[in-house]
Amino acid sequence: MSRARILFARFVMREIRRARGMRAVPSVGRAHVSLARLCSRVPWFPMRAPVTVRPLAPLDSAAARALADTVLGDAPYAPSMLAPLDGALRSDSEEYRALVVGEHTALIGLIVFGATVGALGAGRIYFVAVDGRARRRGLATALIEAACAELRSRGGRFVAMEMPEEPRLDGARAVALRAGFRPEGRVSDYVREGVGLAFLRRDLVGSHDSGC
Ligand SMILES: CC(C)(COP(=O)(O)OP(=O)(O)OC[C@H]1O[C@@H](n2cnc3c(N)ncnc32)[C@H](O)[C@@H]1OP(=O)(O)O)[C@@H](O)C(=O)NCCC(=O)NCCS
Repeated sequence: MSRARILFARFVMREIRRARGMRAVPSVGRAHVSLARLCSRVPWFPMRAPVTVRPLAPLDSAAARALADTVLGDAPYAPSMLAPLDGALRSDSEEYRALVVGEHTALIGLIVFGATVGALGAGRIYFVAVDGRARRRGLATALIEAACAELRSRGGRFVAMEMPEEPRLDGARAVALRAGFRPEGRVSDYVREGVGLAFLRRDLVGSHDSGC
């Protein structure tokens, strides 16, 4: 086979694997994340590694807080994102739930989400956080898909995210858009003068329904 054909075949295989990897994962279970960013010598290498997405357990309390504190730092919006985590740690209610990805004894990924009380089928993602050393491997995407799947399995019709229009949240906004969230509205100068609050929405049934 010529070199060009080998390269083309590799390209096709990579795209197939990438498409498979972007499919929904079960609400709780195995997902595949990319190792590409870890592979500095062959950055295009398409291998994907399995990770386990599981519900937050009481024993995760310290590790979950540590991850959230590290990732959110002293951001002004941190308290409003950490309060739902406390809710998820206090009780396994519909309103505040959390899923995690662990590595050895530490947590490297966390998502806090839940059903909006009093609104039929409305879900919400409060925040997603991934350890700095585990980013750009698809972990946030896997956690979002898992949260969406869980909300949908409980009758969710759509999921909303509120996101301060802070430059340091550009990455989070990019992940959300990539995961099928669309801008639904915004309030100017909500966070402070010149910084608004954006509302993003993803339908769980109907058009987008990326299979979660
Ligand atoms: C935002 C965050 C959760 C992303 O986690 P992640 O596991 O690296 O995200 P993924 O690997 O699933 O990214 C999927 C896609 O989103 C986009 N994306 C992710 N991070 C991005 C960034 N910093 N800048 C631009 N695009 C980004 C890319 O398109 C990426 O795909 P690619 O790697 O193939 O290019 C992580 O950077 C984080 O914890 N940030 C700090 C906390 C935070 O801001 N949380 C959000 C509050 S709601």
